[in-house]
Amino acid sequence: MYKNKTPVIIGSDHAAYHLKEKIKAYIIESGIDVEDVGTDSEDSVDYTDFGIKVASAVSKGKFERGILLCGTGLGMSMVANRFPHVRAALCNDLFSAIMSRRHNNSNILVIGGRVTGESLAMAMLEAWLETPFEGGRHQHRIEKFDRIY
Ligand code: RB5
Repeated sequence: MYKNKTPVIIGSDHAAYHLKEKIKAYIIESGIDVEDVGTDSEDSVDYTDFGIKVASAVSKGKFERGILLCGTGLGMSMVANRFPHVRAALCNDLFSAIMSRRHNNSNILVIGGRVTGESLAMAMLEAWLETPFEGGRHQHRIEKFDRIY
């Protein structure tokens, strides 16, 4: 069971709808509150709309953590990282999911539903939810992101 119970906001497009439902169920079973912004079926939608909803909520501080899923994860990570204070990490392996928390304090986990199988997705999710940011020398590095514009 997770010690970290920070609520999560989640969204996907049609390409990762089924993976989103599995991840959402897993989060709920773990006792973590989750807000699902959709999509709600396999009908074709624009990933952009759901990426904006999740990234905007994280950017404004309404949620500390978000999860985004599309076919490759590429579109979702591109749109999410346009928002101030968002550090969206597209992860295709467990090491990256862990390091995105330790060194980058990632606040949105992005997974490609057509790239990553369910078992790996769940392992990355678990690790990402539980791994703390190390701070220290990494703190001023990530603060530089917010001084770009
Ligand atoms: C949808 O066909 C696909 O383009 C989308 O899920 C995503 O992979 C975009 O980056």
